Amino acid sequence: MRLLHKMHLGVLKEQDPVIFELIQQEKKRQMEGIELIPSENIVSQAVLEALASVPTNKYSEGYPHKRYYAGNEFIDRIEGLAIERLKKLFNAEHANVQPLSGSPANMAAYFALMEPGDTLMGMRLDMGGHLTHGHSVNFSGKIFRSIQYTVDKETELIDFDAIKKLAEKEKPKVIVSGYTAYPREIDFKAFRELCDEVGAFAVADIAHIAGLCCAGVHENPVPYFDVVTTTTHKTLRGPRGAAIMCRSEFAERVDKAVFPFLQGGPHENVIAAKAVAFGEALKPEFKLYARQIVKNAKVLASELMALGFRLVTGGTDNHLMLIDLTEKKVTGKEAESALEKAGIYCNKNTIPFDPRKPWDPSGIRIGTPAVTTHGMKESEMKEIASLINRAINARNSHVELKKIRSEVKELCARFPFYE
Ligand SMILES: Cc1ncc(COP(=O)(O)O)c(C=O)c1O
Repeated sequence: MRLLHKMHLGVLKEQDPVIFELIQQEKKRQMEGIELIPSENIVSQAVLEALASVPTNKYSEGYPHKRYYAGNEFIDRIEGLAIERLKKLFNAEHANVQPLSGSPANMAAYFALMEPGDTLMGMRLDMGGHLTHGHSVNFSGKIFRSIQYTVDKETELIDFDAIKKLAEKEKPKVIVSGYTAYPREIDFKAFRELCDEVGAFAVADIAHIAGLCCAGVHENPVPYFDVVTTTTHKTLRGPRGAAIMCRSEFAERVDKAVFPFLQGGPHENVIAAKAVAFGEALKPEFKLYARQIVKNAKVLASELMALGFRLVTGGTDNHLMLIDLTEKKVTGKEAESALEKAGIYCNKNTIPFDPRKPWDPSGIRIGTPAVTTHGMKESEMKEIASLINRAINARNSHVELKKIRSEVKELCARFPFYE
């Protein structure tokens, strides 16, 4: 992956200097800050170039070789390559690369398998699940009968016995595994067995861990799950978007659920960028990248614990960790804000059974996909842990936070990614 990107925005600068300037400032923010939001990453120059390309002009409702518009000869080849590469990457029987984002991908997956009112079982948002896994404010909790599972209160780990009891009682049509804020490896085989036992469809949402799954660092559920959704912009390091993979028997239902049920014209420039990113993920270097994400996360986790931070579940197996700040007598919102002032980006996050509310919860969530893309390794993780600790301790000192910010800038300058 080319690390030093060039941004050719000369025409934009002339035509719309206000937007140009804001993009420059955002670029500077990204270059000078430590990006620890686990759902973010930095795409390659090639992905950026595909995103800013002419397929954005094209309407292509339908699927390759069966379109409702003329002129799709080359678009068909682009989308066909994205599909083939994704299938190869995850050993999938069928792939749909049109979902505009993770939430619509989940909606399409559910409608491929369920009718309104059917029972959907997923992890609660405040335990690490996603809004689309059945939360009451989301379509998934309004359209379907939502049954939510939790983690175990003591271990903070997925409690299979409890999930099994709930599934036997509620007889869900779909059980969703795969999470937003769960720091441990998921036993997908156990979920598959459970689904078989209770007669549910096995759906996995691997949005966060897709890059780890395709690289063989974590279990890949695609070959034996019914339907698997993923975003393309997290550990998979592609453009903002999503995809659905499924077994052949669900192919037609999934495709119809994406178009014409949910979406109209696909964004073919994004699909071209997805194809580029899938091509990158098929290369041997990507496996090294995925392994390094986890190595970095483990070092960051152990350093933070050595500095007295409590990590939910006592550590991490993947790219992210949840820090419980209760004992530090600081809230998630205060910590997020102090870190932001120091140029370190994370997100406030509930911890399991959080007594506080999501707007100002007890924890923060951090992860290593973006800093690993920068080229940072174990020794930089030690520096980052120390910077996090100092920034949280100095949360009321403007002078100290400014000093830490300049150290953050110096660290990032050693790992440039835009020219
Ligand atoms: C597990 C999971 N699924 C789905 C989504 C939704 O993706 P999007 O924000 O692209 O709609 C997210 C986003 O964070 C996620 O973490």
